[in-house]
Amino acid sequence: MRVEVEGIEKSFRSGGRTLRVLEGVDFVVEAGSRTAIVGPSGSGKTTLLGILAGLEQPGGGTVRIGGTDLFALTEDGRAEFRARHLGFVFQTFHLLPALTARENVQVPLELLPASLRPPPAEIRARAEAYLERVGLGERGHHYPLQLSGGEQQRVALARAFVTRPALLFADEPTGNLDRETGARIVELLEELNREAGTTLVLVTHDGGLAASMDRVLTFRDGVPRPEAA
Ligand SMILES: Nc1ncnc2c1ncn2[C@@H]1O[C@H](COP(=O)(O)OP(=O)(O)O)[C@@H](O)[C@H]1O
Ligand SMILES: [Mg+2]
Repeated sequence: MRVEVEGIEKSFRSGGRTLRVLEGVDFVVEAGSRTAIVGPSGSGKTTLLGILAGLEQPGGGTVRIGGTDLFALTEDGRAEFRARHLGFVFQTFHLLPALTARENVQVPLELLPASLRPPPAEIRARAEAYLERVGLGERGHHYPLQLSGGEQQRVALARAFVTRPALLFADEPTGNLDRETGARIVELLEELNREAGTTLVLVTHDGGLAASMDRVLTFRDGVPRPEAA
């Protein structure tokens, strides 16, 4: 899905002071492309991703995904749009601790609107197939705390791809993993991404990973800019 970002602004107010984080962000992500966003800690990468995914409201500007104006939708409309089209991978995995690996992977399927939701047996089968795909077929009954960081991130990848989202956001997906485990996660992410033809927007501190994307945007002065510009 094509993403069109126009004039996005975001400020946070605290203790009577205003912190301007995003100052008029404009860019387009072509459908099927892979974009890396890089920049120093605190430059607004996570904030921007949250807005692009419709999880956080911008102070101004528009985000169009596949032609749909995200913030013209109602809250419920946005939640449904997310469930149908978007996937996420976070630095800290964000698995639900009270659910098993398989149940975590089932969650996005269970959140689909009734008209698109598969029957329970198929939800279970699909979750198992994706766990298999990330090499955790035997670990579906384990809880997140019984899994290593790399294994938890593999569960998170299965969860992100199980709905075959058209657009995937990943916020420093290897940031909490050692180098070797991180490299394996990247391989898997790239494989799943290729298979599904997903549009990918990824925040990373890993220069090698950034360079392997089609395009790199670097944050400077509240705006992510193309490397060469
Ligand atoms: N909910 C919030 N309230 C106040 N300040 C925030 C909030 N979220 C983020 N910030 C501030 O916005 C800036 C950008 O944060 P963030 O988007 O997390 O940066 P990055 O992901 O690039 O490290 C930081 O200075 C951070 O402290
Ligand atoms: Mg961040």
